[in-house]
Amino acid sequence: MAGKKIGALIGGSGLIGGTIVNYYKTRHPDTVDIRAPSSKKLSIREEEDIRLYLNEIRPDFVINAAMASLGSDCHLSYQVNYLGAINLARAANSLGIPYIHISSAATLPAGLDLGEEETLPLSAQLSNYAKSKLMAEITLRQMAATEGLDYSCIRLGIVYGAHDHKIQGFHRLFFSIAAESMPVLFTKKNTLHSYSNARKLPHCIHHMLCHRQEFRGQTYHFVDRNPVDLATLILTIKSYLNLSQPKEIYVPFWLANYGRKFLQVMVRLCRRIGLKAALPPELMFLDSFYKPQTLSPRRLLQSSFVDPMPEETIFSQLPELVAYYLSRWNHHNLIDTFRDSLQVEPTLEEAFRQNPQALIDRVHAAGIGPYPGTTGEARPEPRH
Ligand SMILES: NC(=O)c1ccc[n+]([C@@H]2O[C@H](COP(=O)([O-])OP(=O)(O)OC[C@H]3O[C@@H](n4cnc5c(N)ncnc54)[C@H](OP(=O)(O)O)[C@@H]3O)[C@@H](O)[C@H]2O)c1
Repeated sequence: MAGKKIGALIGGSGLIGGTIVNYYKTRHPDTVDIRAPSSKKLSIREEEDIRLYLNEIRPDFVINAAMASLGSDCHLSYQVNYLGAINLARAANSLGIPYIHISSAATLPAGLDLGEEETLPLSAQLSNYAKSKLMAEITLRQMAATEGLDYSCIRLGIVYGAHDHKIQGFHRLFFSIAAESMPVLFTKKNTLHSYSNARKLPHCIHHMLCHRQEFRGQTYHFVDRNPVDLATLILTIKSYLNLSQPKEIYVPFWLANYGRKFLQVMVRLCRRIGLKAALPPELMFLDSFYKPQTLSPRRLLQSSFVDPMPEETIFSQLPELVAYYLSRWNHHNLIDTFRDSLQVEPTLEEAFRQNPQALIDRVHAAGIGPYPGTTGEARPEPRH
C-alpha cells in the first residue's frame, strides 16, 4: 500500500519483540507494515543475512529486540548482543534510517535514582550478558558521534508483560512462587528495583520514531515511575495466589550464595552421571536480589513522550498476569497447583481425555474443506 512505512523488527518472537509486533499490527495497520523475520530467516549472527534482508525489504526503520538467552556462553553473547546489534546499526546507517536499540539495566551499577550516564565500567568480571550489552551501548554511542548514526537506546528495568514464553526475569520469579518452589525470601527488606511495562514500550518506540530530532543519539530509561520493593512484590503475589509460602523469613546473602554454590556442585554431579540438569540463569543476578537498583525515569518524563497508561503498574497488572500465566503454565503441564480454580473448558478437556472421537466428529461436522474465499492464485510481486 502506497505511503505505508516498513519497519524491520529483530526478536519478534520474544517478550518485547512480540509486544511490538502486536502493537503495530493492531494500532497502526494502515500506516506501518512491520516485518519480523524469525531468527531462522535472519540470524543477526550472520552479517550477510542482515545486509541481504534489509536490502531486500528496504525498511524505514529498524528495531532490535533480540538477545541471546541469559545463560549463553561468551561466543553467543558476543555475536548476538554485541556484533549483531552493531551490524544492524551499520546496515541502518547505510540505508539512512533510524535504529532503535533495546538495552538493559544490567549495564548499570547498583544504586538509587541512576541516570542514563552512570554505566558500569567495562571489565572482564561482568557476566556475558551485561558485558555484551554494555559493549553494544559503547560502540553505538561511538557510531552516533563519528559515523552519524541515527539511533535511540532504550534501557529497560525488570520487564513484566504477557507472552514471555521462555519464562525469564520477573516471570521466572513469579513461576517459582506459583510452583511453590520458593520456601523463604531470598532478598532483604527494602530492596528497591525498577520495573518496565512491556505493553507501554511500543508506544514509546513509535513516539521516538515519529520525533527523530528530539530523540536521536540519546539513551532513555524506560521504567515505571515508582520503584518496587522486591519482598513486598513477592508477598503480594503470594497472597494473591492464596499460598502459604514463601514464609516471611529473609535469608541473608551469604547463606543464599552458599546455597547457590552447593546447587552448582550438585548440577555438575548430575551431569557426570548423564542426567540433564541446569540452574535457572537468573541465579547470576542473585546479588541484585540483595542490592537496590533504581533507574531514574526523569529524562523520558521531561521529553515530549506522554505515558499512555500512567495508572498501570506491576501491582495493577498482577490480576491479568496471574490469569494469563497460570492458565498457560497449566496448559503446558508446568504447574498443577491451580488447575481446579482455573477457568479451563471442562467439557473440552473431558472430551479430549475420555472421548476423542466426539471431538473429531465435532470438527468434521463444522467442515474440513478448503476455506471459502481463499484461492490458489499467484501471489502479488514482493516489494523491492
Ligand atoms: N525480559 C527482561 O526482563 C528484560 C530486561 C531488560 C532488558 N531486556 C532487553 O529486552 C530485549 C528483548 O528481551 P526479551 O526479554 O524480549 O528476550 P526474549 O524473550 O528472550 O527474546 C529474544 C529474541 O531474540 C531472538 N534472537 C535470539 N538470537 C537471535 C539471532 N541470532 N538472530 C535473530 N534473532 C535472535 C529470539 O528469537 P528465537 O526465539 O527465534 O531464538 C527472540 O525472538 C533484549 O535486548 C534484552 O536485553 C529484557
